[in-house]
Amino acid sequence: MKPKHMDTNIPALQLDKVRKVYGTDDQEVVALDDVSLTVGSDEMMLLVGPSGSGKTTLLTVAGALLRPTSGSVRVGGVEITDLGDRQLAEFRRDQVGFVFQSVNLVPFLTARENLLVVRQFGGSRIDAAAKQRADQLLDELGLGGRGASLPSQLSGGQKQRVAIGRALMNDPSLVLVDEPTSALDSELGKQVMDLLRREIKGRGVAAIIVTHDDRVLEYADRIVRIVDGALETAADGSSTD
Ligand SMILES: Nc1ncnc2c1ncn2[C@@H]1O[C@H](COP(=O)(O)OP(=O)(O)OP(=O)(O)O)[C@@H](O)[C@H]1O
Ligand SMILES: [Mg+2]
Repeated sequence: MKPKHMDTNIPALQLDKVRKVYGTDDQEVVALDDVSLTVGSDEMMLLVGPSGSGKTTLLTVAGALLRPTSGSVRVGGVEITDLGDRQLAEFRRDQVGFVFQSVNLVPFLTARENLLVVRQFGGSRIDAAAKQRADQLLDELGLGGRGASLPSQLSGGQKQRVAIGRALMNDPSLVLVDEPTSALDSELGKQVMDLLRREIKGRGVAAIIVTHDDRVLEYADRIVRIVDGALETAADGSSTD
């Protein structure tokens, strides 16, 4: 069976010449244009780029929500383009934490229940350890007092943080965060980045975080820029011009 945490020598994610073309012959959009990218097993990579450049598409392909038109996608050394739909769903549930651009919490569950419910998806019981983990995550996300709130009672940034907690709840090996523009103010943005960094370094999680906030770039091990579906790499935020 798949190990819960993958070998640290194996990259968390390897994209090799990945292309994603949307649409039909007469109206094609090349969203990813031969993207090759390796993300280490405890690497925090920030992904930046203009609107429509392919950031969400890259995350959805990396997280096995969307199959590439061509190319290879390996997560923890496993070629996921070879997996059937059922295996893919299982793989996503066990290995990937996804925070979508449009936060999609379950509206009739509280913040705390939104975290706990992902344990059940995986077939685990909600035991004391799960509750403790949920409370700890909520606390670290600055939501200690809001565990009993419904999503409709939370601000956009608070909902985003619940979604981040939910993504981390199952101890995934890869976390993919698609941040909506300005959902988090700078102080909270840094607090959330701190938490993500601790999780990544402490639990051997890899992360790709789409950000629109220049002030959080310092948290990255690496910053990758995407323009028109193609990657440009800069080691530390300096431009590659
Ligand atoms: N389902 C789809 N069908 C057709 N075209 C799509 C689809 N999804 C995205 N696209 C197109 O693919 C390109 C990349 O879109 P993507 O959503 O990946 O961009 P993005 O970098 O996430 O943008 P934003 O910063 O606005 O969220 C865009 O030109 C977009 O219009
Ligand atoms: Mg997007």
